[in-house]
Amino acid sequence: MELNGKVALVTGGAVRLGRAMAEALAAEGMRMVIHYNSSAGPAEELVGEIRARGGEAVAIGADLARGGEVERLAREALAAFGGVDVLVNSASVFPQEGLEETDEALWEHILAVNLKAPFFLIRHLAPSLRERRGVVVNMADLAGLQTWARYAAHGISKAGIAHLTRVAARVLAPEVRVVGIAPGAVLPPDDMGEAELDRLAASTPLRRIGSPGDVVEALLYLLRADFVTGEILVVDGGRRAKG
Ligand SMILES: NC(=O)c1ccc[n+]([C@@H]2O[C@H](COP(=O)([O-])OP(=O)(O)OC[C@H]3O[C@@H](n4cnc5c(N)ncnc54)[C@H](OP(=O)(O)O)[C@@H]3O)[C@@H](O)[C@H]2O)c1
Repeated sequence: MELNGKVALVTGGAVRLGRAMAEALAAEGMRMVIHYNSSAGPAEELVGEIRARGGEAVAIGADLARGGEVERLAREALAAFGGVDVLVNSASVFPQEGLEETDEALWEHILAVNLKAPFFLIRHLAPSLRERRGVVVNMADLAGLQTWARYAAHGISKAGIAHLTRVAARVLAPEVRVVGIAPGAVLPPDDMGEAELDRLAASTPLRRIGSPGDVVEALLYLLRADFVTGEILVVDGGRRAKG
């Protein structure tokens, strides 16, 4: 896909990894719809930065834990520039709770944001994506490919994202490609201590934690890889290979 001039919606695009991806797509000349939930300030700041460089961008707020909000986000994103070519499902929650600590409300919240919202965003945007021969990129997680006891529902939601990627790739072909990226540790939570960071790096075959740039490279590759669909690209410094 040629990116320049196309329209991209990045969920959770105001901060952290979502922001790095949104900035990279804007730098490729894409017209950006930046979705945010609580980060209204950073979203507006990013829109301002993109416009200052001559690009086009809008910010749309929506709580993706609420069904009606997902539909509204899709509608407003379609209206912003007349359609959507690229959907990046990045918004996510990452609570550290094991199976025995997870109550029903937490389960429902995690599954709503991490899996249900991406499913219905794909569904609502499918007609436009088909018409424009678009691409969906789902942010999966190494936690959905391995069994991380401390992140039970999160890992299950991300395993679901991997399966959603394959199912949607099959259903929406040949017009739409659907791919995923499963990062390992590329941008740890802000409250992770030095010791834990060192331990993570030491236990990674490539002996470092990744960076948002590593994920951006995967994103740009997948958007341009016109014969790739239904695949999840693991960007984890070799952690999965280690088992
Ligand atoms: N960082 C990593 O090392 C890593 C590793 C593996 C996978 N991933 C995946 O990569 C993606 C981005 O990672 P990240 O670390 O940047 O994520 P993050 O820090 O957990 O960011 C959360 C993002 O999700 C949005 N969000 C949270 N709850 C929401 C809700 N109820 N409604 C709408 N949006 C909501 C937040 O928006 P607001 O700030 O506007 O509220 C924020 O943009 C995620 O899918 C994550 O699972 C990341």
